[in-house]
Amino acid sequence: MLERIREIQAQAQAELAAIQDPDGLEAWRIKYLGKKGVVTQLLRGLGDLPPADRPRIGQAANQTRQTLETALAARRQALEAARHAAALEAERIDVTLPGRRPRLGQRHIISRTIREICDVFVALGFNVVEGPEVEWDHYNFEMLNIPPDHPARDMWDTMYIGQVGAPMLLRTHTSPVQARYMETQQPPIRVVVPGKCYRYENVDATHEMMFYQIEGLAVDTDITLADLKGVLDTFARALFGPHRRTLFRCDYFPFVEPGVEMAIDCHMCHGRGCRLCKGSGWLEIMGAGMVHPRVLEGVGYDSARYSGFAFGMGPERVAMLKYGIDDIRLFYANDLRFLRQFS
Ligand code: FA5
Repeated sequence: MLERIREIQAQAQAELAAIQDPDGLEAWRIKYLGKKGVVTQLLRGLGDLPPADRPRIGQAANQTRQTLETALAARRQALEAARHAAALEAERIDVTLPGRRPRLGQRHIISRTIREICDVFVALGFNVVEGPEVEWDHYNFEMLNIPPDHPARDMWDTMYIGQVGAPMLLRTHTSPVQARYMETQQPPIRVVVPGKCYRYENVDATHEMMFYQIEGLAVDTDITLADLKGVLDTFARALFGPHRRTLFRCDYFPFVEPGVEMAIDCHMCHGRGCRLCKGSGWLEIMGAGMVHPRVLEGVGYDSARYSGFAFGMGPERVAMLKYGIDDIRLFYANDLRFLRQFS
C-alpha cells in the first residue's frame, strides 16, 4: 500500500510539472485532490485496512495529500509569474523613441485679416466694439434712415427670423452697430466693428450667404470728407502697400450723405486693366460716406454741432485681393490644403 501511495505521488508530480495553463491545473486538482480524486479515495479507503496498519498508511496518505497541495500552489504561482512576465514583455515600450508631434492649428485666414484690418484702425485711435448678429429691423434699417417700404431695402436680401413683438432678422450689415453705439455713447466716437452678416444671396465667386464686414464710425465736431479720405488712404496703404492709389466715386447708401465707394488701383496690372479688375484698373473695396444728419438726430445728437464719417468693408474681399484668390467660397469650404497655405 505504501508503495502504491508513493507511485501515485510520483505520477501526480510528474503530470503537474508538465502543466502549462490554469485549466490544466484545475483538471489535475480534480483528478488527484477533488472529492472523487485519487488521493481522497485513498484516504476514504483507510477504514478497510486492518487497524494496525491504519496509522502508518494514513500518515503516509495525508503527507502525500499535503505534498501535492503544496506542489499545486507552487505550480500555480510559477505559471502566474510566467504569464505576468510574458505580458510585461509583450507590452514593453521603448521610452527613448521620439514622440509624434501633434499638428498645431492656426488662425483662419479671415480671422487674421480681420485682426490685421482692425490693428490698422486701432493704431489710428479707433476702439473695437461688437454688436448682435440677430438684430431688430429697427436697428438694421429704420435707425439707418431706411423706413419700411423704402426701395433701398432691396439693396439687402434680408433673412427675417420672425415677429418677436417687432420684426427680427439676421443683420445684413454691421451698420446697425453705429446706431446702437451712438445711442449709449457721446462724441467723440471712433470705433470699428467686425462681425458676421447674413444675406439671402445667390452664392457665387464673390458672394456668400454668411460673410464678415468691418464697419467704421467716427463722430466729432468738424469731421469732414477729407478726414474720411485721409483715414481710408492710410488704411489702404497700410494693408496693400505704400504706393497704392485710391479712388473715391459717388455711391448711394441711405445712411450717408454724400455716399462714396472706395477703390484701390489693381495690384495685378497696376491700373492698366486685367481680368481681376475687369479691365477697369480699379478694385472696389468698400462703401463709405458722411453720416446722414437723420441718423445723428435719430440717436439724439445735434447734427448742427456734430458730423461723422462711416465705412463698411468685407474682409473676405480684402483677403481675396491681397492674396489673389478668385473664389470667396474657398474660405469656408474648410479644405485644410487651402487654409494651411496661409500659415
Ligand atoms: C453695406 O453693407 C453698407 N452697410 C456699407 C457702408 C457702411 C456704407 C457705412 C456706408 C457707410 P454693401 O452692401 O456694399 O454695403 O457691403 C459692403 C461690403 O460687404 C462689400 O463691399 C463687400 O465687401 C461685402 N459684402 C457684401 N455682400 C457680400 C456677400 N454676399 N458676400 C461677401 N461679401 C459681401
